[in-house]
Amino acid sequence: MKETATHSLSTYLAEEGVHVEAALDRAVERIEGLVPESVAPAVAHGVLTGGKRLRPILFAAAYRAAGGQGRTAAVYDTGVGLELIHAYSLMHDDLPCMDDADLRRGRRTTHRLHGVDVTVRAGAALIPAAARQVLMGATGLGLAREASRGVAEALLDAAGASGMVGGQALDLLGEERLLSAEELDELHRHKTGALLAAACTMGALAAEAAAEVVEAFRRYGERVGLAFQVADDILDSTATAEQLGKEPSDVELGKSTYVALFGLEEARRRGRAL
Ligand code: IPE
Ligand code: IPE
Ligand code: MG
Ligand code: MG
Ligand code: MG
Repeated sequence: MKETATHSLSTYLAEEGVHVEAALDRAVERIEGLVPESVAPAVAHGVLTGGKRLRPILFAAAYRAAGGQGRTAAVYDTGVGLELIHAYSLMHDDLPCMDDADLRRGRRTTHRLHGVDVTVRAGAALIPAAARQVLMGATGLGLAREASRGVAEALLDAAGASGMVGGQALDLLGEERLLSAEELDELHRHKTGALLAAACTMGALAAEAAAEVVEAFRRYGERVGLAFQVADDILDSTATAEQLGKEPSDVELGKSTYVALFGLEEARRRGRAL
């Protein structure tokens, strides 16, 4: 039973991934035409070198579950706005002034290949590009201007100081400190939870679902988002750099994590509960 469920999940993710990659190719081609030639290769590296593509897949799943019936290409064109923000967040997360990482997705990080200056600029260029991407995708889904704007706002709120960027700041301030459980929840809810919650909320908004349905998707997304970062912390402490394709580890960086605060078993229990 369990094997079948795992198998069908990986098949589902692989099938969805094909649509996501196609939409990302279209998006990157558009963005490459907007940025200086010197910056374009870093954009392509940051966006197109793998990843689970969970955020656009969650968006598409939420959209359909909330009754959305738009064209497949437009669904993923909208959803990859989330992935552009995610890609930029990782490009900047790996910079020397943040996690100073050499390896991501089994390859050298963007700044190690293209330099810090270019990577900062490539990441920054992805922020307005992501907003444009969502507006364009939502129009393709047949949404009126006001509804498209609502979907884009949900992404921008989750990406900014009240969401991911705010969480990244708390993450840096939490280095070499032992945070309380409440502080750690707050940190994770912002840095990772906000964007995953937005994936779900945006799906329901794009499907023009009723307000209480949108709210239910938001609450679901928040729990999934927090559980996701708990799992990221557990993997960081239990898998090798080779298995993860990422280094350095949270311990090396003195990061505040669920594992550091609660230990492995309790972190696992909390992740499962979420
Ligand atoms: C990694 O995110 C950073 C976190 C927010 C935990 P993912 O685990 O989704 O990274 P990719 O895109 O699959 O590489
Ligand atoms: C990153 O968290 C969260 C972001 C908003 C990018 P981590 O620093 O734990 O992500 P990884 O482990 O480097 O992917
Ligand atoms: Mg980090
Ligand atoms: Mg990191
Ligand atoms: Mg991590």
